[in-house]
Amino acid sequence: MQRKVTKAIFPVAGLGTRFLPATKSIPKEIMTLVDRPLIQYAIDEARAAGITDFIFVTSRGKSALEDYFDSAPELEATLKEKGKDGLLRMLNETTMPSGAIAYVRQQQPRGLGHAVWCGRRLVGDEPFAVILPDDVIASEKPCLQQMVEAYEAAGSTGCMVAAMEVPHDKTSAYGILDVGDDAGPVVGVRKMVEKPRPEDAPSNLAVIGRYILPPSVMDTLNEVDPGAGGEIQLTDAIAREIDGSGVWGYRFNGQRFDCGSKAGFLQATVAFGLARDDLNGEFADYLSELSAVRDAAQ
Ligand code: G1P
Repeated sequence: MQRKVTKAIFPVAGLGTRFLPATKSIPKEIMTLVDRPLIQYAIDEARAAGITDFIFVTSRGKSALEDYFDSAPELEATLKEKGKDGLLRMLNETTMPSGAIAYVRQQQPRGLGHAVWCGRRLVGDEPFAVILPDDVIASEKPCLQQMVEAYEAAGSTGCMVAAMEVPHDKTSAYGILDVGDDAGPVVGVRKMVEKPRPEDAPSNLAVIGRYILPPSVMDTLNEVDPGAGGEIQLTDAIAREIDGSGVWGYRFNGQRFDCGSKAGFLQATVAFGLARDDLNGEFADYLSELSAVRDAAQ
């Protein structure tokens, strides 16, 4: 019988070196787009897709993540006393029910595949999702929800990965897919390579950080040798399923921001700022003034 996807792994063990010095004391996933931490966007997307069990793969120095999803009794009492009901409601939305999030630690930085493998006992014998919080996707219907619907509609037991075209000269930053007949959002994958040089890349269709995987991938992760960058790569384990349960790319609707890079993070900040009713006027005015100044200077 086909099992529903109710578990998701969030690999959040990375050092976040690209955001030093900030990440010296705050986990990258707590950095905010406007006023919400990156991890909150990932959790909200997972909840919309029907995920009920959240598995965080963390590392030393990431306890701020656990505090963020815990209740905050002193803060709540103060807000209540002051009658700040709106803020209180917002705060309650960030508190996760007891037992909904489980934390496991990745003790050595051995790559994304290894991080996912660290969650194997909690995943058990069920299909599961993986969300990389660095990839923030703005869309009407959240990306993982689009994928879960497509996955369940296809009655699939294989792997599904979010896919998007990237510039040819950027293939070495992504897992790259070679796909069969390209019709519609779900495409059959014939080959998958992690971070190929542009001259070796089979296409410019890249894997973006949303996956739905069968539990057998955990066993494969146990067997694969270190790949690109000397790390255990999730891409390599998924690629082994091509001749097994099958791999599909899903071209999602939505705009993806690479919040693992500073430029991507700034772009997301602008986009999410503009999308907010409470900021839209003042912030949009500022941006148009900026572009007017730039036009005048040119
Ligand atoms: C990871 C994956 C890669 C994927 C990318 C998407 O790479 O290994 O296959 O294309 O996420 O963001 P990372 O960005 O962690 O180096």
